[in-house]
Amino acid sequence: MNDYPKRTLVVFYSYEDSTRTIAESIAEAVGADLLELVPRDSNNPNRPMNYLWEDMSVQMDSEPDLEEYNIAPEDYDLIFLGTPIWAMTFAPPFKTFFSQVQFEGKNIAFFYTHEGLRGVTAESLRKELIGNNIVGHADFYDPLNSDIEKIVETATSWAREVVYLSRAGV
Ligand SMILES: Cc1cc2nc3c(=O)[nH]c(=O)nc-3n(C[C@H](O)[C@H](O)[C@H](O)COP(=O)(O)O)c2cc1C
Repeated sequence: MNDYPKRTLVVFYSYEDSTRTIAESIAEAVGADLLELVPRDSNNPNRPMNYLWEDMSVQMDSEPDLEEYNIAPEDYDLIFLGTPIWAMTFAPPFKTFFSQVQFEGKNIAFFYTHEGLRGVTAESLRKELIGNNIVGHADFYDPLNSDIEKIVETATSWAREVVYLSRAGV
């Protein structure tokens, strides 16, 4: 048993596993539940838009349907949100998530992974989360192509600090 509050949730989307690695490490470190956002039809070639990132061609809906999840984020007091940056902002599955879940008065910490072009990600997330208490914000540069152990260590220390601050009501 640890001292962390029971109702802590980590919600994440990850396309290439960088954000997943951080999200899973944070959840383990603070004893949180984990909710992965999974777009339905991820491999359907008829999905609307093609977005090019470097040499990769990625199907990108602005608000993709998500696989159903049986966790109710509203039941949690502290929620970590983790996303890769896509096209200078948070990834589209979070757009769907924000229209499905109405947050109010929650302690929220968000993090994102990226390759150097952060764009308006922080501002966009803060806008979606108006009415909540933002207790932390972190970003991680290209985790899987960096020193992943060091990044995980930084991420888990940050998460423990966030839990501490949110318990202290700071
Ligand atoms: C469709 C797409 C768009 C992206 N757009 C950006 C961007 O605007 N800025 C940036 O720094 N990285 C961008 N990236 C790189 C990812 O944010 C980065 O590799 C991230 O760590 C991937 O996380 P993941 O492995 O959890 O999917 C993009 C990647 C993809 C696939």
